[in-house]
Amino acid sequence: MTNTLLLTPYDLGTLRLPNRIVMAPMTRFRAAEDGTPLPVVAEYYAQRASAGLIITEGIWPSRTGQAGWRMPGLETPEHVRGWWAVTDAVHAAGGRIFAQLMHGGRQGHPLSRLTADIPAGPSPVPVPGPVHVRDGGKADPVSPRAMTREDIRQAVLDHVAAARNAIDAGFDGVELHGANSYLIHQFLADNTNLRDDEYGRRTIEDRIRFAVEVVTAVAEAIGPERTGLRLSPGNPQFGMEEADPGPVYRALVEALDGLGLAYLHLTDNDRYPALTDLRAYWHGALIANVGENREPTTKEEGEAVLETGRADLVSYGRAFIANPDLPRRFEQLAPLQTIDAANLYTHGGDGYTDYPRMDSRATPQDLVVTSQAG
Ligand SMILES: Cc1cc2nc3c(=O)[nH]c(=O)nc-3n(C[C@H](O)[C@H](O)[C@H](O)COP(=O)(O)O)c2cc1C
Repeated sequence: MTNTLLLTPYDLGTLRLPNRIVMAPMTRFRAAEDGTPLPVVAEYYAQRASAGLIITEGIWPSRTGQAGWRMPGLETPEHVRGWWAVTDAVHAAGGRIFAQLMHGGRQGHPLSRLTADIPAGPSPVPVPGPVHVRDGGKADPVSPRAMTREDIRQAVLDHVAAARNAIDAGFDGVELHGANSYLIHQFLADNTNLRDDEYGRRTIEDRIRFAVEVVTAVAEAIGPERTGLRLSPGNPQFGMEEADPGPVYRALVEALDGLGLAYLHLTDNDRYPALTDLRAYWHGALIANVGENREPTTKEEGEAVLETGRADLVSYGRAFIANPDLPRRFEQLAPLQTIDAANLYTHGGDGYTDYPRMDSRATPQDLVVTSQAG
């Protein structure tokens, strides 16, 4: 048994978390074609309810923001009912759960969207191809349509409506996805925002305007204590380019610091030490993710982040996929199971809800400590 900072409680907004181990958002494609989460999704998240906080996979706020086929939505009454089953199962298992709202912007393809149209982003700059499309296919990327001011206004309204739907569906809050190449990130990055209007590249204030508007509008609608934001400054995923993330993200974090948000969820990467650089600009709760584009985060790495004061909580992605009882395994210094990569993006329970928990009768002496890389 170990007594580590990861296993100490934390008060996040109005929620008391029993530990500081957050389940990171992870897309798994287990929704019906209309975007309603399948029943197996409730089972999957309920199995992981011992996380201090679960953040769901990215969910499109409206079908104009659908980045991929069989990703879930939070737009219709069917979606709300489907997510209600999920939040109900997680709460019944003693957990807490936020919905990640993920608008794809330029990410998306007519072959993978219910609207079957060309997606819109800040500027007509396509993702590097080829891209995955529905039913396991691949296709050349399409050049997105440049969003009009009306599209931008509507995208803000769609996030607000989806956030309200999330609360109606029983979520404890929402995380706005400003990371990893999706719409908010596309406004922040150099190569995906070539606009010359007030949402464009002329000044840092313009570049961060969309992010500030979305976050502020959602916080006003559902309460700042139920609103979180994820950022991944400098993450090159899907062809994103940010030559000098520091000034942009410092300005953004400073602009949002006074809102009283539930948390900022920051992803570090090898090009820009976001956690070290931005910590001084943020006075609220900070969740660190240290694994993006690296090996899966280990217990030791998470513990080091907390010990050095770089964050208050740590999010784990891949380790949580393969270990539904991750906090208990950390507590018992137990070996971690590895991911079934072949079933990461399939649609059933295989490689999703079939990872075994530790035998509850086992004592720490029965468990052999091996590598924690999942
Ligand atoms: C299968 C998979 C799907 C992911 N989907 C999302 C997503 O929907 N939203 C998001 O913000 N990050 C997503 N990520 C990134 C994770 O949240 C996390 O940052 C990453 O896995 C690194 O953490 P780890 O080292 O603990 O795995 C995904 C990662 C994986 C492995």
